[in-house]
Amino acid sequence: MSVKSEVLKLLEANRDSSLSGQELAGHLGVTRAAIWKAVNSLKEEGYHIDAVNNRGYRLAKDNDVLSPEGIRLELKKAYQDYEIQIYKEVDSTNQVVKRQALEGKKQGLVVLAEEQSAGKGRRGRNFFSPMGTGIYMSVLFCPESEQAENIVLITTAAAVAVCRAVRKVLGEEPEIKWVNDVYLRGRKICGILTEAVSDFESGRIDTVVVGIGINYHVPEEGFPEELREIAGSVCTAGNLVPRNSLVAAVLNELYELYDGLAERSFLEDYRKWSNVLGKEVRFSSGDSWEYGKAVDIDDDGGLVVQCENGDNKVLRTGEITLRVC
Ligand code: BTN
Repeated sequence: MSVKSEVLKLLEANRDSSLSGQELAGHLGVTRAAIWKAVNSLKEEGYHIDAVNNRGYRLAKDNDVLSPEGIRLELKKAYQDYEIQIYKEVDSTNQVVKRQALEGKKQGLVVLAEEQSAGKGRRGRNFFSPMGTGIYMSVLFCPESEQAENIVLITTAAAVAVCRAVRKVLGEEPEIKWVNDVYLRGRKICGILTEAVSDFESGRIDTVVVGIGINYHVPEEGFPEELREIAGSVCTAGNLVPRNSLVAAVLNELYELYDGLAERSFLEDYRKWSNVLGKEVRFSSGDSWEYGKAVDIDDDGGLVVQCENGDNKVLRTGEITLRVC
């Protein structure tokens, strides 16, 4: 690990106190000049580092640069070996992971970007991904035979992972709009796009990419017109949690849920956070609209709707458009 990376790790781990150049140098067994060089290089990369007179260096309160060091600090031991890549700008983190999966990258790989030039949403839409204000991340899963049977649940599980992480890090209760939009304070803060690559011969799904987009801060120029009524952000003025903490919390939950997909116990949390259950909904799978009441989430994450004629219909992801009346 480079001196720069070691210094960053120590600064992340000691966010509330200052570390002198001498302390850092002693800790890492390098010269003070090497520490000075590493700190300057971090500043050039955009880290906000306070140099406190006679007391040393500290990450500024407003420092919110995504880094593998900051994320790993809060990642559970079992997941420390998963690869974390962070880019300034990519087309889409889902695309980056899909390309790397073809090159043989391993399960657990997570790719994050500060900005996406072609962020993808569901149903072929764009996902608004401006510089430095969001969390745009994609995670690679390579399901073995048993996991492949339950992999359809990964999007549902990802929504639960985001909700658990938001509750843990912010202490606030989010909501899920079926199937995978996470809301906070009545506004959409997160969307999830899962893409699968299957083997043409066997039809077996061998690669799954879970893409999670979180609006973290409101962009300076605000949300674009078409999102203004719906979109919200995780952070408020008085609530500045570093993005690294939320990323680590989401990953801890998501990796754990993936291992336990077959048990389906997370569906209880999904039902609890659903803001659709008990409500009148309208849905379309073609040209016309149908009406009913959302009554349950089934064991495969489908939305059970009681139609006006009394019949139950199970709505599956990707097949319908849903409106809460
Ligand atoms: C939606 O709300 O329609 C789903 C949005 C998913 C956006 C995320 S951001 C990270 C990953 N990369 C993408 O291009 N899309 C997903």
